[in-house]
Amino acid sequence: MSAETVDKRELSPEARKEFEWLCGRYPRRRAVLLPLLRIIEREFGCIDEAGMALAAELIGISAAEVKSVVSFYTHYKRDTDGKYVIWVCNTLPCALRGARELTDALERKLGVRCGQRTADGRFSLKKAECLASCDTAPCMQIDDDHYDHVTEQQLDEILARYE
Ligand code: FES
Repeated sequence: MSAETVDKRELSPEARKEFEWLCGRYPRRRAVLLPLLRIIEREFGCIDEAGMALAAELIGISAAEVKSVVSFYTHYKRDTDGKYVIWVCNTLPCALRGARELTDALERKLGVRCGQRTADGRFSLKKAECLASCDTAPCMQIDDDHYDHVTEQQLDEILARYE
């Protein structure tokens, strides 16, 4: 999609103020890109083409540069994701404590492979890098909800919380 066909977006006054405050904390404006993307994700529910165009405009870089960052850092919620995103940590401590088996179980329950969205659009299943809770491995997150010591037996009850 070209920049000309993307809806123009604006931050709310509060989000704009937060962005400007962040800009004052870094020597270069482009260093604010990652937290700005979090602000845009919060404001609009996900990072889509219009959100990337807004980030590019605010930072003063190309939309292609923003896209390369968004595609590298997979933890941003994208417009192609399901209503909820399940992140299963795959970094070594969680891998050693059963992350692969947990992912396999989720794939079977949801009928998707890791990296895909369920047919009803309810969930996306993704691998995550360390979720910063290695001592409680294996871990997963569903959007902002963190789960420790997750077992396959808990999955039905956990997934039922997300309608
Ligand atoms: Fe999974 Fe750190 S390795 S939370």
